[in-house]
Amino acid sequence: MNKAQRDITLRFLAEPQDVNFGGKVHGGAVMKWIDLAAYACAAGWSSRYCVTAYAGGIRFVAPIHVGSLVEVEAKVIYTGNSSMHIALEVNACDPKSLNHRLTTHCIVIMVAVDQNGQSVSIPQWNPVTEIDKKQHETAINLMDIRKKIGEEMQIFIE
Ligand SMILES: CC(C)(COP(=O)(O)OP(=O)(O)OC[C@H]1O[C@@H](n2cnc3c(N)ncnc32)[C@H](O)[C@@H]1OP(=O)(O)O)[C@@H](O)C(=O)NCCC(=O)NCCS
Repeated sequence: MNKAQRDITLRFLAEPQDVNFGGKVHGGAVMKWIDLAAYACAAGWSSRYCVTAYAGGIRFVAPIHVGSLVEVEAKVIYTGNSSMHIALEVNACDPKSLNHRLTTHCIVIMVAVDQNGQSVSIPQWNPVTEIDKKQHETAINLMDIRKKIGEEMQIFIE
């Protein structure tokens, strides 16, 4: 059996079709890259097909310019029975200078599913390093916060 992979980094150049009228990469394009990286990360950890259950806490810190070298880093920070909580960070730089800067970060929750779309159990990830333990604990705290946000947001669903 193949070894599970906890993290992955996608690297590519921001192309003209990704750019808005202001010459910066569309927020939607960044979100698509985040979703792709989260999928590759979750599939690599679970060896399963996965779907996106949640994406949140997204913060666009700085714009990405056309021609930038983009790196989308995704890593598992918590596993449930079928879900993988994934922390994502997007960094970009001019490929001539390689001077990376953070542009976007967020959390995505992917769920491993079978051919009928039913959630299935995945291997557990256990934090080892101090930073991993802190991030794992934060992922657990965020579940409570998200529950409260979900309850508040019910009012917008008709
Ligand atoms: C994600 C999905 C399979 C979950 O279905 P479900 O009936 O809630 O399944 P379960 O009750 O078995 O929950 C499965 C896991 O999803 C998690 N989950 C479900 N909805 C969630 C949400 N909104 N936020 C965070 N986690 C969620 C549950 O906590 C559970 O985690 P665990 O197994 O680690 O404890 C289902 O909602 C779905 O198919 N959604 C659409 C996915 C989609 O189309 N994504 C976009 C394209 S990929």
